Amino acid sequence: MYRKLRQQWLLMPILVMLMFSGSFLFTKNHQVKVYYVKTTVRTTEAAFSAVPVKHVTKSLVELGKMDEINKFVLFLNQIPNCGAEVLIFLLQKMQGPNNYRHVRLKGGTNRSLTRIEQEEFVNDVYRVMRDEAVPLSLDRQLHFVNFTSFDKQSPTFINLIREPADKALSRSFYNNKQSDSDDLIQCLIQEKTNCSGAKINPHHLTVPYFCGHDPKCLRNNQWALQTAKNNVEKYYPVVGVLEELNATLEVLEHEIPYYFKGVENMYKKKMIDTFNRKKSKQPQATTRKRLKRILAKEYDFYNWVKRRLFKQLQMLYGDHGAH
Ligand SMILES: *[C@@H]1O[C@H](CO)[C@@H](O)[C@H](O)[C@H]1NC(C)=O
Ligand SMILES: *[C@@H]1O[C@H](CO)[C@@H](O)[C@H](O)[C@H]1NC(C)=O
Ligand SMILES: *[C@@H]1O[C@H](CO)[C@@H](O)[C@H](O)[C@H]1NC(C)=O
Ligand SMILES: *[C@@H]1O[C@H](CO)[C@@H](O)[C@H](O)[C@H]1NC(C)=O
Repeated sequence: MYRKLRQQWLLMPILVMLMFSGSFLFTKNHQVKVYYVKTTVRTTEAAFSAVPVKHVTKSLVELGKMDEINKFVLFLNQIPNCGAEVLIFLLQKMQGPNNYRHVRLKGGTNRSLTRIEQEEFVNDVYRVMRDEAVPLSLDRQLHFVNFTSFDKQSPTFINLIREPADKALSRSFYNNKQSDSDDLIQCLIQEKTNCSGAKINPHHLTVPYFCGHDPKCLRNNQWALQTAKNNVEKYYPVVGVLEELNATLEVLEHEIPYYFKGVENMYKKKMIDTFNRKKSKQPQATTRKRLKRILAKEYDFYNWVKRRLFKQLQMLYGDHGAH
């Protein structure tokens, strides 16, 4: 009799944990069993813990064969000068109606981290998840982090990219720093007569944000490009394109409704005037042509992402047609 009662006690925190671990646990019953069997020691701990919610964030091994990607944590690893402010503003506006919290992670300007720094970042994200204990969206300027390699469930990544020459122009417009004087892109944009000694500063490229923290990601080569594409396919259900914001919002609303339901209406109501962007100074056609050549990998990535977005939009209309 006593034993039975004790077992029921032990089950209580498990139920509480399951409630907070997301609906995927309910939809796949066999995985719940795996979870239970694998964590008997921990559940005993949990029984004596005042805050069972703290045990929600398990490592992948503990979770068993659960989804590698957490649908209830969204991460916008924003890229400077690509208009991510629009998405952040919208994510903040949609918190109330869609019942999640948006947290802006601090991290300074260093977007390429060592292994140890990445681990600290992963732990930071998990600490915020525990503290908030609700569906979250996060943003920080940072290259893609492979949570799987830290044995952790990955957030759902999203991002917004921009036409490469326009992005470079916008950079040159907003931060005309001395340190950029040997950057080939800046040199071309400023239409100096002699750019032969200048090199591309890889920190100003878009591909590394999707490639990751491997030093090879900063080499502006085929490997970095392909790694970036692979990561997009695996971890980013949507990568938006600033020049196609309507299509981006439509696809976001359809693919990630938990966060973006109603976002198109919100955008029309609140922002269409606010975000009428200033056109930056346009360079000569020859400068643009040169930029296109030296940013070939960036253009390859940009056009690939754009095709993917339109494919998603097309599927969406296909769906509408079927109804
Ligand atoms: C950024 O972090 C990396 C890895 O820790 C380090 O090598 C690099 O020097 C840092 N860059 C800056 C500008 O702090
Ligand atoms: C992420 O890390 C896991 C585990 O180390 C590895 O199997 C996987 O290939 C990595 N993914 C990428 C895109 O690097
Ligand atoms: C300009 O060109 C000369 C040779 O023509 C070269 O020695 C010099 O380094 C170049 N300057 C820059 C800033 O690239
Ligand atoms: C996006 O949608 C808004 C509102 O429906 C419209 O005014 C605007 O022209 C659209 N922009 C593009 C590029 O289609």
